[in-house]
Amino acid sequence: MSRNLVDELLSSRMRGAQPSAVREILKVAERPEVISFAGGLPAPELFPVEEISRAVQEVLASQGGPALQYGVTEGYVPLREWIAVRLRARGTASSSEQVLITTGSQQGIDLVAKLFLDPGDAVAVEAPTYVAALQAFAAYEADLLEVPGDDGGMDVDALEVLLQRRRVKLIYVIPDFQNPRGTTLEGARRRRLVELARHHGAFILEDDPYGELRFRGAPEVPLSAIGPDHVIRLGTFSKTLAPGLRIGWLHAPVEVVRRIAIAKQSADLHTPTLTQRAAAQLLKTFDYAGHLARIRRSYGERCGAMLAALELELPAGARWTRPDGGLFLWLELPPRVTDRALFRHAIARNVAVVPGSAFYARRGPGRDRFVRLNFSNQTVARIGEGVRRLASAMVPGVELATAPVPITA
Ligand SMILES: Cc1ncc(COP(=O)(O)O)c(C=O)c1O
Repeated sequence: MSRNLVDELLSSRMRGAQPSAVREILKVAERPEVISFAGGLPAPELFPVEEISRAVQEVLASQGGPALQYGVTEGYVPLREWIAVRLRARGTASSSEQVLITTGSQQGIDLVAKLFLDPGDAVAVEAPTYVAALQAFAAYEADLLEVPGDDGGMDVDALEVLLQRRRVKLIYVIPDFQNPRGTTLEGARRRRLVELARHHGAFILEDDPYGELRFRGAPEVPLSAIGPDHVIRLGTFSKTLAPGLRIGWLHAPVEVVRRIAIAKQSADLHTPTLTQRAAAQLLKTFDYAGHLARIRRSYGERCGAMLAALELELPAGARWTRPDGGLFLWLELPPRVTDRALFRHAIARNVAVVPGSAFYARRGPGRDRFVRLNFSNQTVARIGEGVRRLASAMVPGVELATAPVPITA
């Protein structure tokens, strides 16, 4: 097929779509000699491989027919019930009818965008935010309106100004251990955010893949517990069990769930029955709380090792966030060091980071002054070595003569 035909037939929706800069960088970072702080990968040594294997075997032995048959779009009822119970334990009034199983929480973002967005509709997003959410909203031709933030999360005063000026349909926010900044939305801001959504008639899309991974401090209240009628909440097993399962969920008012189910039918009919039933089987007997405690301990140690190494190795003028959980921290570079130059110098020293400009919906001054660092996917020893290499790559004002890294989104 000729490329021209592809170009000629391409939808206007996909014409400007670019591959995610993060995915492109991950390809380079996969080389074994590279110490990668780039991906958002959980630690594979913490996947409960044997327990999942046993659960799959048990499901195939006792319910092979239904486990390999088509299933209902909303998902396997015992799994939806388990999730509703867990949401209730964290304060969200929930029933299994309000829970729909998605193929990863990424599909939840896509389905919500598909359900609500016409071309030109406004979505408020944090600046910076999760790249693949920006990609999903852009694919539905949304107008992405950026809201700044600080160490306490989204700036709700700035959001209010925006809501007074523009009709916004969705407010996309990652309240706990945000991707990419690692920051957590303060309690008072959470209540304000829900009030604003209520007052201005918008839905909040609360994306929470990391909330269970708190290794310091007390949990904040989920937005869905504060304003259940205005919050669509997304969760996932990707960071707690394994991303390869591709099991996430959406919690919302029943009317939203009903319509999301229609949107999902045309996407994939349903999330794989085998993995849903295996997850439900696993959770019947597995010490999930003990498992989460192990992950939190390990990520807490890795984060601590990264913070200590940054303190020791980085030149004056560099600053970074201090996450209470999750997978990432956000590093502000010393003067005259830019993100793409650092990426190139770093990769030449076999260490990978993601340039911060990838996480913004728009280009803008000062946005090339950050990189995202992942601490979950490297051992403590490799974290120390990686940060040492990264520090040596911070050469002010010097560009390497290599092809530019594609920065999209
Ligand atoms: C903020 C955020 N939302 C959603 C996802 C997608 O996760 P899932 O594997 O559940 O699709 C990620 C993955 O890294 C993420 O960081």
